[in-house]
Amino acid sequence: MRLRNASKDDVQAICSFMEESAESSFPGRSVNMEPFRRRLLANIVKDPEMVKVAESGGEAIGYIWLGISPFLQGGSGRIRHIFIEKSHRGKGLGRQLMLAAEELFRARGIRHVSLVCTMSNKAAISLYSEMGFKTARFVMEKDL
Ligand SMILES: CC(C)(COP(=O)(O)OP(=O)(O)OC[C@H]1O[C@@H](n2cnc3c(N)ncnc32)[C@H](O)[C@@H]1OP(=O)(O)O)[C@@H](O)C(=O)NCCC(=O)NCCS
Repeated sequence: MRLRNASKDDVQAICSFMEESAESSFPGRSVNMEPFRRRLLANIVKDPEMVKVAESGGEAIGYIWLGISPFLQGGSGRIRHIFIEKSHRGKGLGRQLMLAAEELFRARGIRHVSLVCTMSNKAAISLYSEMGFKTARFVMEKDL
């Protein structure tokens, strides 16, 4: 696997990954792709290091989208999205993307990282737990 910064040319592939992964994060809901696409493109243009694409044989097979929140002093790194194509899962690539994210945050002086994960997403919870993430806050939801 080769890891590189995303470019505008990756937006289409990343959007199709998002459509595919929506069910793991938002069961029973679908994503409005146009706002997602616009925000992704704006992020790539502003700071291409924050979206990394995993490539195998010249093809994009996954990505990780990062953010940095200035809200708390010292800043906080955010894992916004991570995805590996089904046929490439279970080979340690998700872990590699997470390690690359941690390296980028450290290089930018960030010493804290957080993410939000759906409770039914066992694979993701297991990945994050194995990497040392602890449950620190709850996101609460209610249907109206
Ligand atoms: C979550 C995801 C990125 C993991 O990618 P991956 O490349 O398969 O993960 P890795 O092979 O690096 O696995 C690392 C660790 O994660 C855990 N893990 C990964 N897949 C798992 C599964 N299906 N069940 C349980 N644990 C799993 C294991 O602890 C694993 O370590 P191990 O191999 O030593 O047991 C991938 O399943 C995915 O893209 N899912 C759809 C999108 C998604 O849910 N994103 C997260 C949103 S919060």
